[in-house]
Amino acid sequence: MNKITPILASILVSAAAMADIALPPPSRDAMPLGQALAARATNRDFSAEQLSDQELSDLLWAANGYNRPDIKKRTAPTAINRQEIDLYVCRADGAYFWDSASNVLVKVCNDDLRGFTGRIGAPENFALKAPIAIVYVIDYERQGMQARPQDAFKYASVDCGFIGQNIYLHCAASGLHTVFLGMIKPDDIAKALSLPATRVPLFGQTVGKPAAK
Ligand SMILES: Cc1cc2nc3c(=O)[nH]c(=O)nc-3n(C[C@H](O)[C@H](O)[C@H](O)COP(=O)(O)O)c2cc1C
Repeated sequence: MNKITPILASILVSAAAMADIALPPPSRDAMPLGQALAARATNRDFSAEQLSDQELSDLLWAANGYNRPDIKKRTAPTAINRQEIDLYVCRADGAYFWDSASNVLVKVCNDDLRGFTGRIGAPENFALKAPIAIVYVIDYERQGMQARPQDAFKYASVDCGFIGQNIYLHCAASGLHTVFLGMIKPDDIAKALSLPATRVPLFGQTVGKPAAK
């Protein structure tokens, strides 16, 4: 599982000067599923406190990590097992590609992209208060369904929804707040991440600790 994947290798070349983050191994949620379902909610009140590397690792594993690494399968189901959704973690200090095989956050740009998500342009955009904006990017090449773009979009949207619900449940189980986001600026994010035309940001998800009461 520690082998560098081709996508990681290509990103590493362009991001050699930037600092990556090797995350610790994930730990598992202890809350029973019924309680997590009862607590699952959208919450837009965030503290600015950063998530620790351990909290990030736990969050990303719950989102779409390998739960059956021997057969390369994940916590979220995916249409035709294409595993075409990549997660980018956007923080004030820049944006990171999550290489799920090595559990490394590979820095891909130094810009703060959180403002391209949430209540975009509003002075009180909750996404700027929260430490993390996750962006879900579809890789149309990996999905390999260019002949029927409507199906590609349909399956990718559902795949994002499963990952998003995993994050909702993980946040409920670990006392974090989260908001799934249709409202993102895909073109601005794609440009900042230097994505090729075959990779498109579809949704986002804000994550952070609750604001102090
Ligand atoms: C596909 C989808 C897109 C959403 N987009 C946004 C969004 O752009 N901004 C936002 O503040 N909330 C967004 N939400 C969160 C919904 O507003 C929220 O789930 C809804 O109000 C129900 O609240 P609950 O999640 O607490 O049950 C989105 C939810 C879904 C499922």
